[in-house]
Amino acid sequence: MKTVVIGATGNIGRVVADALESRGHEVIRASRNGEVAVDVTDAASVAALFDSVTDIDAVVVAAGSVPFKHLTELSRDDYLSAFTSKTLSQIEVVRQAIAKIRDGGSITLTSGVLSRDPIATGAAAAMANGALESFVVTAAAEAPRGIRINAVSPDVLENSPGYHQLFAGHRPVSDAEIGRAYTLAVEGLVTGQTITV
Ligand SMILES: NC(=O)c1ccc[n+]([C@@H]2O[C@H](COP(=O)([O-])OP(=O)(O)OC[C@H]3O[C@@H](n4cnc5c(N)ncnc54)[C@H](OP(=O)(O)O)[C@@H]3O)[C@@H](O)[C@H]2O)c1
Repeated sequence: MKTVVIGATGNIGRVVADALESRGHEVIRASRNGEVAVDVTDAASVAALFDSVTDIDAVVVAAGSVPFKHLTELSRDDYLSAFTSKTLSQIEVVRQAIAKIRDGGSITLTSGVLSRDPIATGAAAAMANGALESFVVTAAAEAPRGIRINAVSPDVLENSPGYHQLFAGHRPVSDAEIGRAYTLAVEGLVTGQTITV
C-alpha cells in the first residue's frame, strides 16, 4: 500500500510511519519541514501534495496544535486557533483526499482523549477533538468509492513525557499501541469510527 503520513516527524506520526513501513507500506512522510513538504493549514499546499503524490491508498494525519489554558483564560481566538489548526486542517485533507485516493482507500485522522475525559486547561482541545470525531461519523457514511474515514483518539503518549504532569492519573500509551490502532484504521474494515487507545 502507498500511504501518506502527514506529521510524520512527530511523536505520533513517526511511530505510525515506522509501524506501517514495517508492514510493507510505501510510506510518504510529509510535514512542513519533512521529506515531503505540506502545510495542512493551507489548502493550496494540501492540493500541491495530492498533485505531486499519486496512486495513494491511505492517508494518515497526525498534526495540529491546540492552546492549553484554563477555561476563564481561553479567548475566542484561542478556540478559533484550535479549530483551525487541529479540526479544519484535517477536514481539508479529507475534502481533498477523497477526490484523489484509490477506490477503497482510507483516511485516518487524529483527535485525542480530551473529547471524552476532561483535564484542567483542556477545553479548546476537547472542542477540536469532539468536532473532528463528529465529522468522521457523517463523512464516512457519505464517502464515495468505498473510501473509509476514521479517527484515532490516543490518551497521552509514553513518548510525550512533557504532557504527563498535565494528564495526572492517565495511563500513557506505548508506541506499540499507537502503531496497532493506526494499523487497524488503515488496514482494517472499520469506517466512521473513533478508535480509542
Ligand atoms: N503526543 C500526545 O501525547 C498526543 C496524545 C493525543 C493526541 N495527540 C494529538 O496528535 C497530534 C500530533 O501530536 P504529536 O505529539 O505527534 O505532535 P508533534 O510531536 O508536535 O508533531 C507534529 C507533527 O506534525 C507536523 N506539523 C505540525 N504542523 C503542521 C502543519 N500545519 N502542516 C503539516 N504538518 C504539520 C510536524 O512537523 P513540521 O514541524 O515539520 O510541520 C510534526 O511532524 C496533535 O493534534 C495532538 O493534539 C497527541
